[in-house]
Amino acid sequence: MRDGPVSNGARVLPPNDPRQYDDLAGEWWRPDGAFAMLHWLARARAALVPPTTRPGALLVDLGCGAGLMAPHLVGKGYRHVGVDLTRSALEQAAAHGVTALAGDVTAVPLADGCADVVAAGEVLEHVPDWRAAVAEACRLLRPGGLLVLDTLNDTVLARLIAVEVGERLPAVPRGIHDPRLFVDDRELVAECARHGVALRVRGVRPDLWGTLGWLARRTGGGAGRGTRPGGPMIRPTWSTAVLYQGRGVRHG
Ligand SMILES: C[S@@+](CC[C@H](N)C(=O)[O-])C[C@H]1O[C@@H](n2cnc3c(N)ncnc32)[C@H](O)[C@@H]1O
Repeated sequence: MRDGPVSNGARVLPPNDPRQYDDLAGEWWRPDGAFAMLHWLARARAALVPPTTRPGALLVDLGCGAGLMAPHLVGKGYRHVGVDLTRSALEQAAAHGVTALAGDVTAVPLADGCADVVAAGEVLEHVPDWRAAVAEACRLLRPGGLLVLDTLNDTVLARLIAVEVGERLPAVPRGIHDPRLFVDDRELVAECARHGVALRVRGVRPDLWGTLGWLARRTGGGAGRGTRPGGPMIRPTWSTAVLYQGRGVRHG
């Protein structure tokens, strides 16, 4: 496990230091940039959210970053409020129609039960106290409200694939994760249940051929021509051991 500081070119920072997102601010909306996979995950997460018929329905996006879910929520009828620590990301989220709120996901300045949907995409594994973030997510949900999330599991395989291998790929920023913060899926389900949300989880992964085509195109080989616009699809897989999605409704 890597504990020491890492460099993404601009400056040397400890793993998972949120200032990394300022250094990488220009990458958020580049489809082939450092955050490319976040675009694929945002599309898959948004697909878990049904359109609403409730006037004024609110979707609270915890750790929204630059608001990558926004294009995938268009037409679903929600007001999209994003909460994040990183102001440079929030500015970009606001430019994409997100109502941006600076704050910590463990202490969100919004009322109990205000949200029809809470999304927590690729954020829990960055929060030193992920249980506090889950408590907030559940607190924000109205009875019958929907929680959707994705995160990395607290397993040796996740550390190997997401950090030791993943962060060595040319597209992925090094040091963006601290694997000590990864989230055990059974503990997450138990924690959500404690706060009234019946969460169901399933393993997901990027489509293999789509990813190979994307990598080929990105590295200029040309072989990836004709790859899917918006990047590879995120597919369900049999194991939650690396990356998983969760979806659950808050009971009343
Ligand atoms: C990997 S990015 C995911 C962004 C977005 N959810 C997406 O999928 O595109 C993690 C985001 O969480 C934010 N973040 C990390 N810890 C946070 C905290 N404690 N409170 C609020 N935001 C946090 C970071 O600033 C960053 O924008």
